[in-house]
Amino acid sequence: MQNNFKRILVTSALPYANGHIHLGHLAGCYVPSDIYTRYQRLCHRDVLHICGSDEHGVAITISAEREKTTPQAIVDKYHAANADAFRRFGIHFDNYSRTSRPIHHETAKEFFLDLLDKGFLVPKEQDQFYDAEAKMFLPDRYVEGICPNCGYDKARGDQCDNCGKYYDQLDLKDPKSLITGKTPVVKRTKHWYFTLGSFQKRLEEYLEQHAPEWKDNVLQQTRSWLKEGLQDRAVTRDLSWGIPVPIDGADGKVIYVWFDAVLGYISATKEWAIGQGDPERWKQYWCDPTTRYIAFLGKDNIVFHTVVFPAELMAKTGYILPDNVPANEFLNLEGGKFSKSRNNAIYVKDILDRYPADLFRYTIATNLPETKDSDFYWKDFQAKNNNELADIYGNFINRTITFAAKNFGNAVPPLGPLNERDQAVLSFVRTAPERIGGLIEQFRFRDATMEMMNVARAANKYFNDSEPWKSFKSAPAECGTTLHICLNIVRSMAVLFAPVVPFSSDKVWSMLNIADPIAKEQWSAAGEMKLPAGHTLGTSEILFTKIEDAVIENELAALGVHAAPPAAASAAEYAPLKPQVTYDDFAKIDLRTATVIAAEAVPKSKKLLKLQIDLGFEQRQIVAGIAEKVTPEQLIGKTIIVVANLAPAKLMGVESNGMLLATAADGANFALLTTSKDVISGMGIK
Ligand code: 2FM
Ligand code: ZN
Repeated sequence: MQNNFKRILVTSALPYANGHIHLGHLAGCYVPSDIYTRYQRLCHRDVLHICGSDEHGVAITISAEREKTTPQAIVDKYHAANADAFRRFGIHFDNYSRTSRPIHHETAKEFFLDLLDKGFLVPKEQDQFYDAEAKMFLPDRYVEGICPNCGYDKARGDQCDNCGKYYDQLDLKDPKSLITGKTPVVKRTKHWYFTLGSFQKRLEEYLEQHAPEWKDNVLQQTRSWLKEGLQDRAVTRDLSWGIPVPIDGADGKVIYVWFDAVLGYISATKEWAIGQGDPERWKQYWCDPTTRYIAFLGKDNIVFHTVVFPAELMAKTGYILPDNVPANEFLNLEGGKFSKSRNNAIYVKDILDRYPADLFRYTIATNLPETKDSDFYWKDFQAKNNNELADIYGNFINRTITFAAKNFGNAVPPLGPLNERDQAVLSFVRTAPERIGGLIEQFRFRDATMEMMNVARAANKYFNDSEPWKSFKSAPAECGTTLHICLNIVRSMAVLFAPVVPFSSDKVWSMLNIADPIAKEQWSAAGEMKLPAGHTLGTSEILFTKIEDAVIENELAALGVHAAPPAAASAAEYAPLKPQVTYDDFAKIDLRTATVIAAEAVPKSKKLLKLQIDLGFEQRQIVAGIAEKVTPEQLIGKTIIVVANLAPAKLMGVESNGMLLATAADGANFALLTTSKDVISGMGIK
């Protein structure tokens, strides 16, 4: 991040108050924005996180009709439910507002009238579908028909859910009114158009200025919109629910929901400032170029934040624009789309009675759809809990605190002289804040989370290799040093993991009996040893319990999914068996456990990764042809199996002293060979 910013404004897309928050929403937007803001707060930067309910538009009126109630009742119900779901899930906003509040209506009207005054909103007569039986013009979502682009037969009035294309509603083929099911007639009506086209050049410049930092998916969608040439867009609708158009003679018309929703970020900030007793303070965040503005959202909202909203802000003048829009792709569920209509969704309100929020926060964070769609699988949720949170993170913390309680009077023992292993682990932990923070600053939350777990992996390995249960008898001072270091790593882990699993970090903090809250910690110093010798610890509690198979089977059954093993390879894909070998032949191959300490791509090669591995008795470099299957970050800290006595070779000029073992397969059947539990490096395999 550039250092000349004084504060950070973070907005998260305002969810429609017409349905419950589900895991798809969380992965698309709110888990990343919450990790980001929690991290920035630990860096003690001035950061403000704004969100709220989007309460206008036909999404709401359609829900009201479906639930046979009023739009007001719908937004009241879902605003309260979603605010509660976010709170219980640990997504912290400085203000969670509502676009139905007077402050928002005033803000939107002020923008509308200012743009009208400047000539950026112009009235035009247009033909629109009219339902003669219901006696009303049909907003886009009230019409369904065949997509003019791809032929999908359930395309909405202005956008096709199948191919994503936006079009004029009159281009829809075989249109039907969703109110009466009748074919609508075409009738003239007057609307106000935002002259988006007049911002084409400035938006292109804005985009290119940020292109080096923006994610590919965001750039591509925005560029493709700009390439088509921006058209003026109607920003009023014939509807009774919404913000009335503040012009005489515009009765029965409201401001288009997307024009007002994005302004909700501004009105929510104003409301926050009033709550702070400093009503003008919102301007620091919105009108001062020393503010860095990051807008989080899911992929279906991209162009509204990279084209429409910036144009509104440019037109109004005096406002800053989003510096980055790190939008995510979609999270699918068990291989299919999240869909509330097909009841194929996991709602936050339903899961938190059964599981702690941190399990989902961690599972989602390690599997965020950052570059492409990803999937939530219950089996993966179980594996992440059992094999990572419980076996690695929880195990290290519990074994350390329990050991100290039993053998050192529940206090931190003194630190003696450091050996090489002590120094190595301390240096790995000391540099972790920079490594993890660097990834978070680049919006690479998935890699950042894996890097957090690598600290826990290294810590467990250190505990194993140091064998304190032996040194306690043979060299008690050395054992004390080991535990002094381990307890300090526990402390570091509580801070480093806090953006992802904040509830667990708070528990660890009280297990360590530290009086000041984690919020007082400084991220950059999180890897330092701060727990002094003699400090009395609190009581250890189990952080994560294993989830049994039967529990997951129940979840799958509730979704109508039956756990299926990975697809079997077809006969043609099974390699033919090789000729028999004797045991003596096999015994010539020296297989060993090793830990990956560094990994990077081999320049100019698509397939090769260069790894530095630790064999316990020595470190060496190997080259592996797996770059298309795993990222370097996914390898760091992993225990792998290598052929340790393979004759050295050069691959694309890079020396390789051994070979890593993995399945000879792609896709779902690709896997690295590893051990079923943590063991030290250099162990022979037979
Ligand atoms: O897709 C949605 O749920 C929209 N309500 C997002 C709006 S984001 C912003 F405009 F507030
Ligand atoms: Zn289509």
